Amino acid sequence: MTWLRRSLERQEVMYARNEALHRGHLAGALARFGEADEAAHHIERRGAAYRSVVRPGAGGTGRRAPRARPDPPHPMRRPVDYTLITDPADAGRALDDIAPVYESVFAEPPYLEGPRDPAMFVETHQREHKTPGFRLALAHATDGELVGFAYGLPLTSSTGWWDGFLDTTPAQDFSREDGQRTFFVKEIAVLADQRGQGVGRRLHSTLLDGITAQRATLTVRPEAPSAAWYERLGYELVGHTQPWGSAPVYRSLVKPLRT
Ligand SMILES: CC(C)(COP(=O)(O)OP(=O)(O)OC[C@H]1O[C@@H](n2cnc3c(N)ncnc32)[C@H](O)[C@@H]1OP(=O)(O)O)[C@@H](O)C(=O)NCCC(=O)NCCS
Repeated sequence: MTWLRRSLERQEVMYARNEALHRGHLAGALARFGEADEAAHHIERRGAAYRSVVRPGAGGTGRRAPRARPDPPHPMRRPVDYTLITDPADAGRALDDIAPVYESVFAEPPYLEGPRDPAMFVETHQREHKTPGFRLALAHATDGELVGFAYGLPLTSSTGWWDGFLDTTPAQDFSREDGQRTFFVKEIAVLADQRGQGVGRRLHSTLLDGITAQRATLTVRPEAPSAAWYERLGYELVGHTQPWGSAPVYRSLVKPLRT
């Protein structure tokens, strides 16, 4: 597949960019807490573009550093159209568009996914999009560019989704599934330069639009910025899981959709 070839070629660039992002986030946090010298060090390593944000040497005395300049207006704000796909053939056809978005978004911290993960995503999608109840929401800019997507599917009656929590054992009545009770929001992703303008929220509501499930569920890494985002969307913590021995710990969340 063309995107997979492109993926391998771009990996090195991605890793360099992620490292720069890490340093930039750290510098921002240090500057906010008054550690301007330390921030300047990270900015120095990140590159000249950030030198204008925090003035080196302005802090280090316990005083608060000068406030960072507010971000400039969003450079890429464009009208966005939302589509819900429930037809398996259409969902299959969308794969070539969503795979590069997946690849770009999950190469970022804290995920730092390499080339194997997008390949696994493709393999899983090829199977899952044929599952009854599969839904895919797409966000297209009016120039046609896909700027985000979300997809999910119902939990089946034989799911082990509510088993093996590290810190809780949900009641039997809570964990009972019949293939229609719970919709699993498996993935949601918005391109980095399109975030913070409501695209993720609209993708989430489009995905669940008209659904008959009683509740939605998902897992999220506690350190991911999206953990707080899901709480804003009304998700509540069920418990923590670790799908396999060396896997990261995830927060398992649920959102009631009807009473
Ligand atoms: C999580 C994600 C999909 C959110 O998309 P987005 O388009 O930036 O989100 P929105 O602009 O719709 O945000 C909606 C609201 O949440 C707020 N918000 C955005 N990011 C937030 C964050 N990290 N923490 C708390 N609130 C947040 C927004 O301010 C907005 O509030 P408002 O409705 O009061 O104005 C996007 O950040 C993303 O793709 N992240 C990387 C991939 C990822 O982590 N996916 C989840 C995997 S489990």
